[in-house]
Amino acid sequence: MEEIMKLEEAKRTVQEAISTALTEIAPQVLTAQKVMNLLEVPKNDRMGDFAFPAFQLAKNLHQAPQQIAQQILDQLDQTAFAKVQVQGPYLNFFLHREEVAATTLAEVIAAGADFGSSAQGQQKQVVIDMSSPNIAKPMSMGHLRSTVIGNSIAKILTKLDYQPVKINHLGDWGTQFGKLMVAYKKWGSEEDVKRDPINSLQKYYVKFHQLDQEHPELDDEAREWFKKLENGDQEATYLWRWFRKESLKAFTKVYDQLGVTFDSFKGEAFYNDKMSEITDLLEEKGLLQTSKGAEIVDLGPDLPPALIKKSDGATLYITRDLAAALYRQRTYHFAKALYVVGSEQSVHFEQLKAVLQKMGYDWAQDIEHIRFGLITSGGKKLSTRAGRVILLEDVLHDSVQLAQAQIDAKNPTLPDKETVAHAVGVGAVIFHDLKNNRTDNFDFQLEEVVRFEGETGPYVQYTHARAQSVLRKAATQVQEQSTIITVGESDWNIVKQLANFPEVITQAGAQREPSVIAKYALRLAKSFNHYYAHSKILVADEQLDYRLNLLKATTIVLKEALNLLGVQAPDEM
Ligand code: ARG
Repeated sequence: MEEIMKLEEAKRTVQEAISTALTEIAPQVLTAQKVMNLLEVPKNDRMGDFAFPAFQLAKNLHQAPQQIAQQILDQLDQTAFAKVQVQGPYLNFFLHREEVAATTLAEVIAAGADFGSSAQGQQKQVVIDMSSPNIAKPMSMGHLRSTVIGNSIAKILTKLDYQPVKINHLGDWGTQFGKLMVAYKKWGSEEDVKRDPINSLQKYYVKFHQLDQEHPELDDEAREWFKKLENGDQEATYLWRWFRKESLKAFTKVYDQLGVTFDSFKGEAFYNDKMSEITDLLEEKGLLQTSKGAEIVDLGPDLPPALIKKSDGATLYITRDLAAALYRQRTYHFAKALYVVGSEQSVHFEQLKAVLQKMGYDWAQDIEHIRFGLITSGGKKLSTRAGRVILLEDVLHDSVQLAQAQIDAKNPTLPDKETVAHAVGVGAVIFHDLKNNRTDNFDFQLEEVVRFEGETGPYVQYTHARAQSVLRKAATQVQEQSTIITVGESDWNIVKQLANFPEVITQAGAQREPSVIAKYALRLAKSFNHYYAHSKILVADEQLDYRLNLLKATTIVLKEALNLLGVQAPDEM
């Protein structure tokens, strides 16, 4: 195969040409890195593929930018480019489109789904704490965010040759179980829990919180039940196990629908016997202090102290997380430990890191809180206690229904309609979540999630299926011809984006930001649809091969981009 011309390499070539020319006219004014940083990708294709603004140099040399640009051009070795032009204060570089197109398409097609992979991760393990819903509560939209963001990050990291370990740190311990047991014993029924575990348990929990304001004795009872549980009481343990099992069954249904799997379900309870080591270590290292009967680690002026043990001896969320971090480091020797959890827990993760640092663990610096924004409803915070919840199951159900209806209307003879409707409906929900920067808050509107036009997952899926269907037709209708390429404006746009996919994946991985991929997929789909609307693909001329290869490469990359988001790409829809 020919030398591969990726866009980053092309950029490097531009920088080298400029730097060489500069040694003649203004040596040592701009470093190679500075030149690189100054290079722009113009919005308008007429301004070339890369542009070098001469403002900075003009300032340094006290000359007009246009003059400088011209001087560089006079000294420039232009052989690597189709054209170089001065336009105003800019030097514009035009690449050899035909060459870049030929090598890019060949590379994408040869690599297939592997296009964009890299070896940077060297098989290092990255643990990803994700989803982690609380037992006996419904999986909320927040947990959905954690699930799909974590899943996508895992896929992106795999592509970059890391080994993710997806851990579901189930909220299966805590005082809420005391409340739940009280509520169940007072108002619950076994049949109801068996029939509809999550909703029934949820109902009890909400009722508890409706009444405990006026009946503080309920809280006392709840504390007692939780204490029983911690002490291994038979009935309490039996109830706990049962609630956990039923909840997990319901969660598994959702995970199956989303197509998400985990490597571990070790939740908070798993660390019950591992926390004394933490308190011992903290004591040994002289980090534990007593404050109002509780044991704390002081974290200085910038952070609230970490509350390790309550006055009644009960251990806390952070204590479990300390034990979990230590356990994970010993078990996986992780290169990084990511926690995909809402922004509202930022302080908690800062405290976690700070305590581990105080304990002398260097690997504390490899802990990253992958925060994400809040989902509100009508501007209000969702809350299980207030009963203001959006049920993920309902959202998925509605979205799949709508996909089904659309397919019935538009493509009633489609084979395997239900599978496709599922892929589209679920894909819409996942994509909707991943297309915004993860730290953005957003207000949840069902109509928005199940919208299939515009910047949506189904739009990308549909674009992919459309290109596939042209390729299917081509296979039966037209003869392939030899390839002479002239690359037009709108196909050049596609080629450049395809060539940029590896960069995009690297960036998404480094930023732990699936939206980088989602936005890229939207741009590529849009460019493709523009091209498709303005060209005849299936004409037996000398460019046919090129056009079909362009379509093929586009389907490969769109499908892989969706795959990295955890969204399926049906061949037909
Ligand atoms: N169960 C917690 C919640 O729903 C999230 C747990 C996040 N993971 C962790 N290791 N703290 O808020």
